[in-house]
Amino acid sequence: MAVHVVDHPLVRHKLGILREDGISTSRFRALAQEISRLLTYEATKDLITEPKTIQGWAGEVEVEMIKGKKITVVPILRAGLGMMDGVLDMVPGARVSVVGFYRDEETLQPVEYYVKLAKNIDERIALILDPMLATGGTLLATIDLLKKAGCTNIKGLFLVAAPEGVEKIVKAHPDVDIYTASIDEKLNDVGYILPGLGDAGDKIFG
Ligand code: PRP
Repeated sequence: MAVHVVDHPLVRHKLGILREDGISTSRFRALAQEISRLLTYEATKDLITEPKTIQGWAGEVEVEMIKGKKITVVPILRAGLGMMDGVLDMVPGARVSVVGFYRDEETLQPVEYYVKLAKNIDERIALILDPMLATGGTLLATIDLLKKAGCTNIKGLFLVAAPEGVEKIVKAHPDVDIYTASIDEKLNDVGYILPGLGDAGDKIFG
């Protein structure tokens, strides 16, 4: 497993604006999608390509095309939907698998309420999407569910992550790669990331 902090100037800049208190819903939505495109660029760097001969304007030409395993994106409802279009801009042919969890506000435990996975998910690379990795409970439950469905290549894309959540995933699923725009300072006593984004779901859905 590897934890990748996507430390690109565009990501740092966009994340800075995303953290501003009072940011409008439309601005938050646009920036979440923009950062997601940049995270996808990093998270797909290890895709393998193979040569293919096509008919070009001046005759046959050898080009490179992605080989083998294809992708399913796995937005975690609700907030993960706020990243999905940005990711699909980069991998438009990806299938979508939807997983619904909410976090019980008292116990902070994830509660599953919807699952609809893509066909042949066991043959695909799964890109889990969620703006926030906080305690890690939701991600842990999602990874368990995907592994039960046969997924062997799983990556998670997050706008911000808490060190506590990252540590939990590293221990439990050392084979899963995490891509995040930032590893923040810590969780507060009610499980919110500091400095974080506040409630990303509420900011995206209004
Ligand atoms: C948030 C967030 C993650 C989860 C992270 O969702 O989008 O799914 O909490 O917390 P964890 O790492 O401690 O499990 P929330 O429960 O607020 O639901 P929502 O997306 O429907 O707003």
